[in-house]
Amino acid sequence: MNRNKEIKMKQPKIVVLTGAGISAESGIRTFRAADGLWENHKVDDVATPEGFLRNPTLVQNFYNERRRKLFDPAVKPNAAHLALAELERAAGDNFLLVTQNVDNLHERAGSKNLIHMHGDLLTVRCEWSGKTYHWERDVTEQDRCDCCSPPHRLRPHIVWFGEMPLEMDRIYAALSECDYFIAIGTSGNVYPAAGFVQEANRFGAQTIELNLEPSLTRSQFSRQRYGKATEIVPIFVNELLAELS
Ligand code: NAD
Ligand code: APR
Repeated sequence: MNRNKEIKMKQPKIVVLTGAGISAESGIRTFRAADGLWENHKVDDVATPEGFLRNPTLVQNFYNERRRKLFDPAVKPNAAHLALAELERAAGDNFLLVTQNVDNLHERAGSKNLIHMHGDLLTVRCEWSGKTYHWERDVTEQDRCDCCSPPHRLRPHIVWFGEMPLEMDRIYAALSECDYFIAIGTSGNVYPAAGFVQEANRFGAQTIELNLEPSLTRSQFSRQRYGKATEIVPIFVNELLAELS
């Protein structure tokens, strides 16, 4: 019997949370490393609604620059993104990938059941109605929505500090019934994502941290493995698939 059929027989429910670390080896900077995003930008200037009100051009340019980066031929899914897409194919409907990242590398790797809880760089939204638009080019001062009269400004569909992350009901529902919760490439700095492991533990899941170094929530995981995502994630996925077969 092939691996996929055997996994479906056991029906393990798997929730994976990823952070900026899974994309680091694809050339996308994380936040809190030495060359991290917050080294060159004040969070309050580019990552809060107040910052957008104060200086919309600075904020639009911060995201325009990062959206452009996604079209750099050197930026592509790495072995960790691809391993998660393989795990999803084997686990079928019992798999949910929640990412804090706003890049499109999980989609490009083939992940389907995916929630961008902090939004994504390739979506913008009408500041007034919230209508979203797929958007690949820079947002300029002239760009406006097509849903209001008079039309309103378009803003990045990114969750800034002080705003609510997306699809939290769906995430908590999945955490309340998962057998495995796996966190990859996240420092455990920011809630509510950093609290997901506690939720999974509450419901008796096996919790695993895969990271470059111990995160702030390291002690709440039942298992930990440290190293580069492109090395440790494919190995872990193969071990899990063997464990479940
Ligand atoms: P942010 O949410 O990353 O703000 C970061 C920091 O702001 C937090 O770590 C915290 O220390 C501080 N902060 C400020 N006000 C806070 C508050 N009220 N409560 C808690 N912490 C507060 O900013 P952002 O807009 O999310 O950043 C840009 C986006 O870029 C994020 O959504 C992030 O997911 C994304 N990103 C993606 C990638 C990737 O796609 N691979 C890599 C890095 C960052
Ligand atoms: N392989 C595995 N892990 C890595 C790698 C790598 N190659 N490179 C870095 N890491 C780890 C770091 O050790 C760190 O723990 O990834 C984590 C990145 O942490 P952050 O930069 O804090 O990014 P993240 O955890 O995604 O931040 C969470 O905070 O800034 C806000 O909203 C923003 O979504 C972001 C949230």
